[in-house]
Amino acid sequence: MKLHSLAAWKKAARSWLEDDRDAAAGPRRAGGGRPGGDAVGDVTKLSPRERRKAAHAIAAGVEFLLPTRPVDEILPGADRAEVVMLPRLIRHHLWSMPEHELLVLGAIATMINPTLVVEFGTFQGGSTLALAANMPDGGRVVTVDLDPAERRTHEHGLGTGLMDFDLGCLFRGTRYESMIEQRYSNTLAFDADDLLGRADLVFVDADHTYEFTKRDTAKAESLVRPGGWILWHDYTWAPENSECAGVTKAVNEFFQHHGACFQIAKTRFAIHRVPGAAMRKSA
Ligand SMILES: C[S@@+](CC[C@H](N)C(=O)[O-])C[C@H]1O[C@@H](n2cnc3c(N)ncnc32)[C@H](O)[C@@H]1O
Repeated sequence: MKLHSLAAWKKAARSWLEDDRDAAAGPRRAGGGRPGGDAVGDVTKLSPRERRKAAHAIAAGVEFLLPTRPVDEILPGADRAEVVMLPRLIRHHLWSMPEHELLVLGAIATMINPTLVVEFGTFQGGSTLALAANMPDGGRVVTVDLDPAERRTHEHGLGTGLMDFDLGCLFRGTRYESMIEQRYSNTLAFDADDLLGRADLVFVDADHTYEFTKRDTAKAESLVRPGGWILWHDYTWAPENSECAGVTKAVNEFFQHHGACFQIAKTRFAIHRVPGAAMRKSA
């Protein structure tokens, strides 16, 4: 189903919203139509019906404005990158990335060759591991997620409380674990003075509603070095994940202000390269 026009999205959303059977089926995975049969539960404490209602309200009127480019047009050679993938990254969870996106994420890390990556939204650590495994020796990933003790009372963009999960379980025990530093924080309160202007890549994948993504994006801008990159997940989404419209809206605004943002073809990623020091001087 092609969802890159508002009309197509509305048509799909209408049929989805009208289908009462879906209310009992729980969340489905975006981006590939694969069933979320082994999802461990709803991502919020809202009922499926409440969640869909909130998501539909949020999504109304959002369009996909970014131009789409194959990854190798953005990072020449990325389509031939030799990427490290671990079988433990094969997950069927609503919040986990499918393998093709992990492969692209690994290719991005390979091409950018970062020494410091900052990630907002660790979850089980799948994307963290894909990044670390494809960074040079000595590279470091600082990944930020809520303190597990705060999940039940956390006020997020769709209500209160998040499900339980084993934070970072996918990178624990791997040889890449020593490259990864887990920090516990609400991204909105993330105190990152030691990282300001130093990250080669900031990956934004925490709360997908608008206010959070907008503020996470502003924080990403403060952390990235001149010439570095900002990457967002879930710029595009399937109707059942339309709370991600917050990402679309926030990234659209960023694009309208800064330009040079692309959706990476066949993925839900959006990417932006921050101007380098020389480019900034001449601007
Ligand atoms: C979609 S998951 C991240 C998936 C992960 N990047 C991956 O690909 O495996 C979103 C994560 O963001 C975290 N999160 C949501 N809101 C947050 C916030 N305000 N501050 C910090 N973490 C947050 C959730 O606990 C969850 O682990």
